Amino acid sequence: MAASKSKDKKTDAPRTDESRPITGQRGREIQKWGTIARLPIGLSEKVCTASVKNLNQTLADTMTLRDLYKKHHWQVAGHTFYSLHLLFDKHYEEQAELVDTIAERIQLLGGLAVAMAADVAEMTKIERPPKGREEVPVQISRILEAHERIITDARKFAGDADDMGDDGTNDLLISQVTRQNELQVWFVSEHLVDQPLVRAD
Ligand SMILES: [Fe+2]
Repeated sequence: MAASKSKDKKTDAPRTDESRPITGQRGREIQKWGTIARLPIGLSEKVCTASVKNLNQTLADTMTLRDLYKKHHWQVAGHTFYSLHLLFDKHYEEQAELVDTIAERIQLLGGLAVAMAADVAEMTKIERPPKGREEVPVQISRILEAHERIITDARKFAGDADDMGDDGTNDLLISQVTRQNELQVWFVSEHLVDQPLVRAD
């Protein structure tokens, strides 16, 4: 009869190490990047593969915009500091929620959501800002360009999903990604309208 795993093979005494966490482990990947572990949701693997590819682009760009908002939340300067500091953090939180929603849709389509910063940096189409601090108009311009990139792709990807019958992805890209980004563009854009602060023209 085989010795119990919880007993020492030689002495038959209870093992002293069985309650220790087994750290430092590595192993094979159970799903390779770019593959689909299809779930029974009535969509073909071909459709899931196409939607996952598009959604991962939107995810990488949304994660980059989310982080751009936090960078500017910290680094904003000048007499609009307080309002922009708060606005940028509000938009950061809303983008972070979108990130989770997009990533979880990728997973339920049987795909793998891009997750780590180095991988996101390779995939994003949004221009990398300098590590240093920039002026407010430049910060805002960068944010608006990132929004437009995401909105433009989201509309195209929503059309692709519609053509393939992937209504869930179409709905996410329009109802959440496009609408949320459009609303944020309005709030941010108004800060680039050159209006007098004290004396009317
Ligand atoms: Fe903060």
